[in-house]
Amino acid sequence: MNIKIKKIINKKNKSKIVCLTAYSKNIAEIIDKHADIVLVGDSLGSVIYNYSTTRKVDLKMMLEHTKSVRQGVKKSLLVIDLPYNTYRNKSEALKNSKKAIKETKCDAIKIEGGTRVKHIVTHLVKNNIPVMGHIGVTPQTVKGKFKSKGKTKLEKQKLIRDAIALEKSGVFGIVLECVYGDTSKRITNLIKIPTIGIGASVNCDGQVLVTDDILGLTGAKIKFIKRYANIKKEISSAVSKFKQEVKSKRYPSKKYSY
Ligand code: KIV
Repeated sequence: MNIKIKKIINKKNKSKIVCLTAYSKNIAEIIDKHADIVLVGDSLGSVIYNYSTTRKVDLKMMLEHTKSVRQGVKKSLLVIDLPYNTYRNKSEALKNSKKAIKETKCDAIKIEGGTRVKHIVTHLVKNNIPVMGHIGVTPQTVKGKFKSKGKTKLEKQKLIRDAIALEKSGVFGIVLECVYGDTSKRITNLIKIPTIGIGASVNCDGQVLVTDDILGLTGAKIKFIKRYANIKKEISSAVSKFKQEVKSKRYPSKKYSY
């Protein structure tokens, strides 16, 4: 097993796992210093390309962004999301996972779904592809507004079944998205691999957020998003200063001219 994956699994019940998204080298370089896992999420569809759904993201886009991110990631585990319609059956999933790992040199792939994708995960793991699971709200299949999962008895039972199925298939970790706190706790206590929550309470073994959201670059208004900076303001201020200096001919001064 990949040593970085072993380290992630060993953190369970010892130290919380930190995961953040990155879509390009410069941000990845910063995140790599702090995170355990860097995820090239297909959330880049909405964050960068302003798509209404992650379904419009294709493999080519994911590969190009991951190649860029790879250059900034030295120590963290680098995970790529397989986008919609790239893992509809075992052979398609294996072909695309191999392509992703070969071309981007990422460490693992992430796919959405529970029991539904069990046979696919088993096939990938058998072929030495490290896989991360993702259950709860799964944006590739969600229609309309995001709603939390796992509050009703039926939903809770389904999520538990999904998590167990994924663990048995060989995933090394599972993202729980928008999962009710009690259900996250039950799943986290039940399985031996780590759970990484996004809007799934403090009961998970780790947390993931979209970096652009925590930096204040997006205007996303979702309950679980906490803004740790207002980078938009910083950028605006720098751009405005540049504009003023260009207009007043203070830039470029002698120092910045040949
Ligand atoms: O696409 C993504 O960025 C994700 C995380 C938010 C979990 O799947």
